[in-house]
Parts: sequence; structure tokens; C-alpha cells
Amino acid sequence: MDQIKMVDLLVQHNQIREEIDSAIKAVIDSSAFIKGKPVQAFEENLARYLGVKHVIGCGNGTDALQIALMALGLEPGDEVLVPAFTYVATAEVIALLHLIPVMYDVNPRTFNTDGCNSFDGIEDLITPKTRAIVPVHLFGQCSDMDAVKAIAEKYNLKIVEDCAQALGSYFRGKKAGTIGDIGCTSFFPTKNLGGMGDGGALFTNDDALAEKIRMIANHGQKVKYHHDIIGCNSRLDTLQAAVLDVKLRHLDEYISARRNAATSYTKHLKGLDPLETHICTPVESNFTTHTYHQYTIIVKDGIQEGNTRDRLKAFLAEKDIPSMIYYPLPLNEQDAFRSIAKKREDFNPDSEDSLHNSEYLAQHVLSLPMHPCLTEDQISYIVDVIKAFCS
Ligand SMILES: Cc1ncc(COP(=O)(O)O)c(C=O)c1O
Repeated sequence: MDQIKMVDLLVQHNQIREEIDSAIKAVIDSSAFIKGKPVQAFEENLARYLGVKHVIGCGNGTDALQIALMALGLEPGDEVLVPAFTYVATAEVIALLHLIPVMYDVNPRTFNTDGCNSFDGIEDLITPKTRAIVPVHLFGQCSDMDAVKAIAEKYNLKIVEDCAQALGSYFRGKKAGTIGDIGCTSFFPTKNLGGMGDGGALFTNDDALAEKIRMIANHGQKVKYHHDIIGCNSRLDTLQAAVLDVKLRHLDEYISARRNAATSYTKHLKGLDPLETHICTPVESNFTTHTYHQYTIIVKDGIQEGNTRDRLKAFLAEKDIPSMIYYPLPLNEQDAFRSIAKKREDFNPDSEDSLHNSEYLAQHVLSLPMHPCLTEDQISYIVDVIKAFCS
């Protein structure tokens, strides 16, 4: 059996090596490394895949989120709702633009923005300064965009979807990232659609927003050296676009391979006591498809002393099985955010710990190896090791 990796990009790329090599060669032959033809071709192909009017490439997923908030014209001091359990980038750009991140809790079983005493309390966080909400489609399935849209309509908020981890997922028949005002994604190499370096993109159906996004990503200019608004330098480079365009053709195969791997994990992990008493396998919400960017389990305490998740992680490592903790701290507990992020207790000192699900998850989640080339043998071995740990 080959060595198990969290993500095996070499095996994945070797399967399409000729297609990638010839796409890269064509870019080198043209030597149009910035704004070359593959950029527009990829943007158009991705727009078709997503069923959205505009796709605008940019430097990375973090830039995409920043550019989205800039395009919406938010002012310093405006408040933006964001889940506490997400990758730092989602909230970092809010703070960078001198906006206030206001943190809400996530559903403890789907890790996402949907119900379960968490998102239910979101209205308590809304003030006259609240301008936008950034739902995250964490680990590969969508947040409940009906609930997000209901809140946004009621309070006139803009929606920026962070679908860095869920490209290709559907929410009620629409692709992730195409439901709010702007969708943002990352093409970090390990993502569902990953480049060979950094890359990102924004999606929108709004023509005016699309034009503004293009300008912001290109130094605020429409006409060269005429800078109408403040922007930044954030372009998807031609080599990345060429590679991504090749991989886009295979994205649905990759997603089904991820789903098959997840089904296999769950089949072997479910219904076995004492395993099931301690390990919660991922839950799929009925309004979304799951692309399994991550296969994340919740490990409850109770097997010997201390944190069972941390001990399982160490046990797996002893057997050469990598695993990752996404994420070991909720954002409200990160030093960088402690003094700037707001949560329900800051508006109403009598409220109880409003981010307890996020805090619990940070202590108990564990992501197992997941990529489109994971084999049945590798999954069986990983599950056998988990069973050995639990028994
Ligand atoms: C949920 C989420 N948002 C944003 C980002 C930022 O993307 P990038 O690393 O391309 O800046 C990531 C990627 O790592 C992510 O997982």
C-alpha cells in the first residue's frame, strides 16, 4: 500500500500530466504570463460550470474576500457577521478593512451556518451598523442559504459567500457561491479545484458589481493608468489559469471520488460500538450536496483520561496516518481577534457563552486523509487503526 497522505497531489497530477504539461507549454510559448488568453478562457468556463454570469480571477481566496467587501462599499466601523468556526481568512479581511467582525456560532454537527441554537440567535447580533454577512460553506457542504437570505432581506444585508472549501457543491440546485451577492473561492493547491500555486476568484450575477470587482483587482483602473477608485494588485496569473482550466474538466470526477471515499469511511465507521459512541461521522444536510473537501469527524472524550481526539491523532500518527485539526481555536479565541471581534455577550452581557459550539468543535474535530486518489485499502487501514484505538 502506498504511503497515506492527507492530500496526494502528485498522484492526482500524474493522471493528467500530459494535459497539464501541454497547457503550461502553451503559456510559455506565448509568454503572456499576466492577462494571457487562458485567464479569460478559464473565467468563462468556470462561469458556465457554476451557472453564474461573471467570474473574475484574482490572486488568492483571501484577496477574493477582501475585494468583495471593498466592492460592496462598506465603511470603516461597519459590522460584518461571520462564523467563529472558520479559516482565519474569512474574518481577517473584515478586520483589515477596519470593519468589525461580529461572530456567531455554527451548527455543531454540520460545522456550518444553519440552525441548532446557533444561527437561530443571529438577530441578537444585528445593529444599525450591520451591513453584511459572510456565510462559510465549511468542509464541502453549503450553509443554509435560505436562512441567510431571510436574515439578509429582513435587515438589508449584503451576502458574501465563502465557498473556498465547497466549489462544485449545490445548494437546492444552485452552485455554491452563486446565491449571495458575491461568491469567493480559493484555488489553493489542496482545494477541490486547486492550482499549482495561489489563485482565487469571485462570482456574481450583478453586472455593476462585476465591473467594480475587476477594477479593484486591477489597481482601481478600467483604462490603463487611469485610477478611478482605490484597488489592489490581485490577478490570477496565466499559468495558474491554464492549469485550472485543465483541472476544471476533471472537477466532477474528483468530487465523485471524494464522495465515494467519504461513503466508504462512513460505512466502516458507523454502527460499530464502542466506535460509534465516541466518533461522530459527518452529517449531510438535505438542502446541499457535500463535496468532502474534508472528511471531518467529531471525537468525543471518554476513552481513558484527557482529550480523546488528541490521543487518537497521536495514535494515528504512530501508524503513519496523517490527520489534521481544522481548526484548533475558534476565531474569538485567537489573540489577533480577542480585542476586535464582537459576540453576543458584547451586546448583551447577560447572555450565556454564545460561541460554545465553535469552542467545543475546536477541541473535538479531526480531519482524516481525503483526496480523490485515496484507495479502498488505505481507507480500510485507517478505519482498522481507529477501531483498534477505540476498542
Ligand atoms: C474557508 C476559507 N476561506 C478562505 C480561504 C483563503 O484562501 P487562500 O488560501 O487562497 O487565500 C481558505 C483557504 O485556505 C479557506 O479555507
